[in-house]
Amino acid sequence: MLTREACEALDRNDPLKDKRDLFALPDGEIYLDGNSLGVPPKAALARLQHAAETEWAKGLIRSWNDAGWMDLPLTLGAKLARLVGVEPQEVIAVDTVTINLFKLATALLARDGGAIATEAGEFPTDNHVMEGVARITGAPMHRVAPNTRPADLPEGVTVFIKSAVHYKSAEIADFEGYEAEAKARGLNIIWDLSHATGLVDLKLKAWGARYAVGCGYKFLSGGPGAPAFLYCAEDQIGTLEHPVSGWLGHKRPFGFEDAYEPDDSIVRWRTSSPSILALSALDGAVSAYDGVDMAQVEKKAIALGDILLEKAEALGLEHACPGRGQRRGGHVVLRHEQGYAIVQALIARGIIGDFRAPDLMRFGFNPLYNSYADVFDAAEALADVIETRAWDAPEFLARKAVT
Ligand SMILES: Cc1ncc(COP(=O)(O)O)c(C=O)c1O
Repeated sequence: MLTREACEALDRNDPLKDKRDLFALPDGEIYLDGNSLGVPPKAALARLQHAAETEWAKGLIRSWNDAGWMDLPLTLGAKLARLVGVEPQEVIAVDTVTINLFKLATALLARDGGAIATEAGEFPTDNHVMEGVARITGAPMHRVAPNTRPADLPEGVTVFIKSAVHYKSAEIADFEGYEAEAKARGLNIIWDLSHATGLVDLKLKAWGARYAVGCGYKFLSGGPGAPAFLYCAEDQIGTLEHPVSGWLGHKRPFGFEDAYEPDDSIVRWRTSSPSILALSALDGAVSAYDGVDMAQVEKKAIALGDILLEKAEALGLEHACPGRGQRRGGHVVLRHEQGYAIVQALIARGIIGDFRAPDLMRFGFNPLYNSYADVFDAAEALADVIETRAWDAPEFLARKAVT
């Protein structure tokens, strides 16, 4: 078992150690929920303030041109493109994950016909929004067993939604294998990168992926409800029609024409006036990734998770994620029938994780700001809460709405 001194030594030698100072970390707390809502980078807060007080309050309408507002979904998209391994002109920061799933799936069904498939146990919105797409397009929808491979999907499926990192189990998908099988049968995979962006060393282009959506508020730390993003391979853009054909996807929005004529570039996926304050915060946040090697980020996340998993094994806790040394996303999942109360008792001690029904405790690690010593201290606190039954108190047992 690693000692605290050994963890401190790992922190001293960590190639990412200088990144921690870029974040406005809460005093006296260990934040292990960056997989749900990231800690704000100081640059995100500064950028937000500048956008509000200078660009908006002083520049007013002129800022659409002078402050680069109109192009912000694209300039930010280009930065996100590096993090997911595609070309700068293939990503746009826009709308939400759910809405981008709707846009891509509906457009693919309009082009290719056929049926939709989602996995049982996917993040609920992925299943829910595809039910909506099926209702309005009339396309059949298949809900398949978890980890059904593209080659094994029912005949006729043309659109398949798949999380790159599963929100509960932290399992990482076999991107290349899935894409090869998809191509062999004319299937389009829409990757949900929500739990992967800013954590996994994604190489979507090299893996043959053509469509993806991702989230701005988790590892990217863009703020609560931050804008999402959409990736569409350049050679596919002209073949797909945005189902919500708003004025800002038009080739000449300021021509104010009656008829819709979609832009030829990734701009086609824009819907409405961009949400500038939210985009500005996310734009500031992603600067934390400047110069960062994503392979190092992914490697450190596994090493951090391993520390907690080792302690969990010593405590006799079962894990519901890939085990020690195995490739996984940025969180570790432990099972305990009193998981909710244990997480509450840890939060009372300033160690913030979360709980997913019925019995899963999730602890997420952002390698840009979580240290090895953080995880060591959290593991010790977890052991203490369980061994002393500190969780067994009315204030920890009463359930709140958001878990
Ligand atoms: C895998 C996954 N997809 C989608 C979402 C929801 O995205 P949004 O609220 O932007 O629609 C989440 C949120 O936690 C998620 O974990």
